[in-house]
Amino acid sequence: MANIVLGVTGSIAAYKACELTRLFVQADHQVHVAMTAAAARFVAPLTFRTLSQNPAYVDMFDEPAEWMPEHISLAAKADLMVIAPCTANVIAKIAHGLADDLLTATALACKAPLLVVPAMNTAMWENPATRANVATLESRQIKFVDAGTGDLACGTSGKGRMAEPGVIFKAALSLLSS
Ligand SMILES: Cc1cc2nc3c(=O)[nH]c(=O)nc-3n(C[C@H](O)[C@H](O)[C@H](O)COP(=O)(O)O)c2cc1C
Repeated sequence: MANIVLGVTGSIAAYKACELTRLFVQADHQVHVAMTAAAARFVAPLTFRTLSQNPAYVDMFDEPAEWMPEHISLAAKADLMVIAPCTANVIAKIAHGLADDLLTATALACKAPLLVVPAMNTAMWENPATRANVATLESRQIKFVDAGTGDLACGTSGKGRMAEPGVIFKAALSLLSS
């Protein structure tokens, strides 16, 4: 049993993180979901709370369960942190060490391996800013599950589609056992 902190950000692909949560839970892992405020506009924290059977966290300033701030206790208990889907915005923030919400503060405080699963429109993915941010993270040995190519929610087709939950699940298990 591992403690997996699952970061969910504001992408239409957030619904796929529900299935990913189920896969981890079925494999007897503890899933602790940290969402951005934007993610909570796509999928309710209640869904993740129910699927994970653990609280789902959004607001860094909510009363923590214990005295320790939630982003610190989440980071400390993580055997692995997975951010799926990961927006261009959160890739940029973690590349630059920003920590202005619960998810990014947890990522900055977390010493466990981090698996980033991007999801975005092709132009955002190909933007030199995103390319540079991904390269920065890869240079720090942060692992990625590469974005796929196909139909995108914005009505176009190209690279930027989030990997399927089963693929992310396997990549996470392989990082946990490495
Ligand atoms: C319908 C919709 C879908 C979106 N999908 C994505 C996406 O897949 N990837 C992305 O980087 N941004 C996407 N965005 C934009 C983000 O939600 C926006 O940049 C937001 O500020 C991200 O916040 P977060 O990174 O804190 O979650 C989408 C916005 C909307 C309205």
